[in-house]
Amino acid sequence: MSVSYMTHPLIKHKISILRKKSTGTNEFRRVVEEIAILMGYEALSDLQTTEISISTPIEDTMSPVINGKNLAVVPVLRAGLGMVNGILALVPPAKIGHIGLYRDPETHKPVEYYCKLPENIDQRTIVVVDPMLATGGSAIDAVSLIKERGGRKIKFMSIIAAPEGVEALMKAHPDIQLYVGNLDRELNENAYICPGLGDAGDRIFGTI
Ligand code: PRP
Ligand code: URA
Repeated sequence: MSVSYMTHPLIKHKISILRKKSTGTNEFRRVVEEIAILMGYEALSDLQTTEISISTPIEDTMSPVINGKNLAVVPVLRAGLGMVNGILALVPPAKIGHIGLYRDPETHKPVEYYCKLPENIDQRTIVVVDPMLATGGSAIDAVSLIKERGGRKIKFMSIIAAPEGVEALMKAHPDIQLYVGNLDRELNENAYICPGLGDAGDRIFGTI
């Protein structure tokens, strides 16, 4: 597995906005989407292109295009939903799947409640999005569910990750590509990322 850590100052600046507890729901949601665009630009840099024939106002030429329908975006519910529009801003025709997982508050282990993926998932580049990679349990289960249904070319994008989560995901799924906005220090006793940003789902949707 390859892990890419984002270094762009725009991404770092926007992550600082997310971290502030004074950032309200509206701004939080907007900035999550903006970071998804910036990270998506990086994560999709190896998309296949094919040459098509087009006519410019000056002459006919061959020019590269991507087949956006070959891309599937898969948010891990709920918080991953906040990143979907960022990827769609880059590739509007992408198909969208959903994986529903929540962390049991006692065990911190993920509990699956939903999985629906686009057809022909084995032929698509799949971008799984979830802002937080903490213990890695949710990410590991999400990727396993996709693989069980035939998915192979899998990229995972998380805005903030803990070292424990990166290590666990690398060990369980060494064949995927992981993109991390920032690697934080550690997990606390409640398996929250420190310094982190709190509960991403609650901050995106304004719940408690
Ligand atoms: C959060 C987050 C990840 C998961 C990460 O979801 O969005 O899915 O926790 O934790 P892990 O790496 O330890 O599994 P949560 O369970 O809070 O659900 P929500 O998005 O519905 O709030
Ligand atoms: N999920 C979150 O939303 N935040 C954390 O810090 C850990 C898991």
